[in-house]
Amino acid sequence: MSVQGKNILLVITGGIAAYKSLELIRLIRKSGGHVTAVMTKASKQFVTPLSVAALTENKIYDDLFNLTDEAEMGHISLSRENDLILVMPATANILAKMAHGIADDLATTLLLATDSRVMVAPAMNVRMWEHKATQHNVDILKQRKVIFVGPEEGDMACGEYGYGRLAEPMDILTALNQFFAPQDQILRGKHVLITAGPTHEPIDPVRFLGNISSGKQGYALATAARDAGANVTLITGPSTEPVPQNVKLLKVQTAEQMLSAVLNNLPADIAIFAAAVADWKVADYSEQKIKKHADDDDIKTIQFVENPDILKTISKLVSNRPQLVVGFAAETTDVLKNAQAKIKRKECDIMVVNDVSPKTGIMGGDHNSVRIINLNSEEIIDYKTASKDKIAQQLIAYIGGFNK
Ligand SMILES: Cc1cc2nc3c(=O)[nH]c(=O)nc-3n(C[C@H](O)[C@H](O)[C@H](O)COP(=O)(O)O)c2cc1C
Repeated sequence: MSVQGKNILLVITGGIAAYKSLELIRLIRKSGGHVTAVMTKASKQFVTPLSVAALTENKIYDDLFNLTDEAEMGHISLSRENDLILVMPATANILAKMAHGIADDLATTLLLATDSRVMVAPAMNVRMWEHKATQHNVDILKQRKVIFVGPEEGDMACGEYGYGRLAEPMDILTALNQFFAPQDQILRGKHVLITAGPTHEPIDPVRFLGNISSGKQGYALATAARDAGANVTLITGPSTEPVPQNVKLLKVQTAEQMLSAVLNNLPADIAIFAAAVADWKVADYSEQKIKKHADDDDIKTIQFVENPDILKTISKLVSNRPQLVVGFAAETTDVLKNAQAKIKRKECDIMVVNDVSPKTGIMGGDHNSVRIINLNSEEIIDYKTASKDKIAQQLIAYIGGFNK
């Protein structure tokens, strides 16, 4: 399921983010892939051919009318002898030329001559990206099945903010790995809905009731499910985790918002509820910031009411219930006993149980160790302490087994 052994023809164009192609070359090579680079004239203003040649351990190609290249290889064979052409970064200029069949240098000529699949990672100023001309070109290219990775939203080199930032090299590597993934991915074509992170229940305009969940485990599950071929909807409470590429992300704050986002995104084949949803919300939200002392000098007493139980609600749905509902039980005492009672009460199919007592460092940390229990069997499976990414891959492999 990777770029290992694949030949990538990397077209580097003239954007400020061209230097990031060096990092991507390093990542592809570390994963066992081979890179041949083609550089536009403009790209050489941003990154030196020597650096690219050194990192690819290949000569670079930059001239359509180079007699030696044409005699040895030729732009036609260069355009064919690869497993994928990746344009990274892709300027507004090259997207326009690709969309309209312009072939006025080596890069654009081989992109027109190729029969390989093409992936592009655009990077440009937000106004250039949002310009109707660029958006029209993007639509044309998407219709032709050109694969887009990014751009992302964020700060730009020019000091502006918005869409146009190059996707991170690591995310582009992920997209390459996905592209080369074998056809027998265990969740291929399945819609997997995942919740992650804490919820924040407002007390007044500046305060909330929350918990220390980071969202890491839920985000790692979204990545693992995506890599297993699923169409993933990730519904997340407040989290600073990087958003996985090619996942539908919905941001919410409260438990009630999370439940309605879940209901609005059904049907799903599989639902995994990894979010640490607040059990309660405040009974009387204050429109104004609550003063330190109430009128009679007493400290304000806050009343709580129960939040909706998302796991139980979805598990008990009569119509539209996902085929497989997976819950998480975060406990600090009698972990297994409490989880066994919980799975019966909530009627989910699988419960992922973890001990979140402070000594474990699991809540908010990078590692996890879990046990899996089933509603319909006595079997208990243990996954020993590992990174949340590794645990996610193990869980998705287990969940995928139910789909065979
Ligand atoms: C300092 C500087 C930074 C640039 N950054 C970008 C960029 O990030 N994205 C983009 O589309 N064009 C950018 N341009 C404009 C391109 O370099 C220009 O359109 C060029 O013709 C692109 O050629 P190419 O697509 O053949 O590489 C930049 C230009 C300059 C002078």
